[in-house]
Amino acid sequence: MKQIKKAVFPVAGMGTRFLPATKANPKEMLPVVDKPLIQYAAEEAVAAGIETLIFVTGRNKRSIEDHFDTAYELERELEERNKDKMLKIVREILPPSVDCVFIRQSEALGLGHAVLCAKPVVGDEPFAVILADDLIGFANKPVLSQMVDVYNYQHCSVLGVEEVPMEDVQSYGVVDAKLSADRVYEVNGIVEKPPQAEAPSNLAVVGRYILTPKLFDLLETQERGAGNEIQLTDAIARLLDEQRVLAYNFEGKRFDCGNKLGYLQAQVEFALAHDEVGAEFREYLSTLDIQSFDMMSAQAANSW
Ligand code: UTP
Repeated sequence: MKQIKKAVFPVAGMGTRFLPATKANPKEMLPVVDKPLIQYAAEEAVAAGIETLIFVTGRNKRSIEDHFDTAYELERELEERNKDKMLKIVREILPPSVDCVFIRQSEALGLGHAVLCAKPVVGDEPFAVILADDLIGFANKPVLSQMVDVYNYQHCSVLGVEEVPMEDVQSYGVVDAKLSADRVYEVNGIVEKPPQAEAPSNLAVVGRYILTPKLFDLLETQERGAGNEIQLTDAIARLLDEQRVLAYNFEGKRFDCGNKLGYLQAQVEFALAHDEVGAEFREYLSTLDIQSFDMMSAQAANSW
């Protein structure tokens, strides 16, 4: 049985919900406390045994390449100033045994198309897909590791899902699925962004997938779907005609950092849990009178 050794990170989206922050910078480089979203995603992959990280990038993605590359000048400066702790942080972004590959998605034709761009590097192997803007906190085991456990046992595609409020289903790929074991569902169907009345369930696919290479064949002939984009969900729907697909309701708390509210929630919760600033941040929050809070708001929101 082939192990999951490669992970694809589609980072070529426009990130329009975060403009102007994403005008010149990819949203995956937005930090939560002190690490960019893409680093949390890379660490999750490495923890799950991934050895090759494949980034599918678009315009404005140079900073992602720089983030995972050696920063010679910075390292030299830190060395000269004896900033050993900082030097260690900069040098240990990834273990030396992990390879990074960058592929360009020339046009943002959709998530399915972005995943297809990784085919020449993934080859004929099962692989993981991680959407870095779904940041998932965990208590015991990172989510991708949980999913790799399911894959190693069941040897088929596994979709990370969570229950969402029914009124939110139209923002997600939603599965028609039957519980077969603890947290594991047999998927019978999947549909992208269904209207609430047509949704088969409230089990929404979030940004974690383990997929078999058969999916690439289907993506190659996949027509455009919702939003006029080549949708990964539509290809998975066709994969169901040929192979078994499972959904896994992971253990962990997901923050949708692709939208402002989810990103802010992640900031607060990751800051509260942070070794260095957590205690002081908790103290600070307790001093805020949230009900009658009146920031210098107009000024902050609209600087001119
Ligand atoms: P989103 O649906 O969040 O789109 O993409 P987006 O463009 O990043 O953000 P908004 O909606 O404009 O604010 C989901 C994931 O798929 C990637 C994105 O980078 C994100 O990780 N993606 C999307 C691509 O890599 N290429 C695409 O053509 C589309």
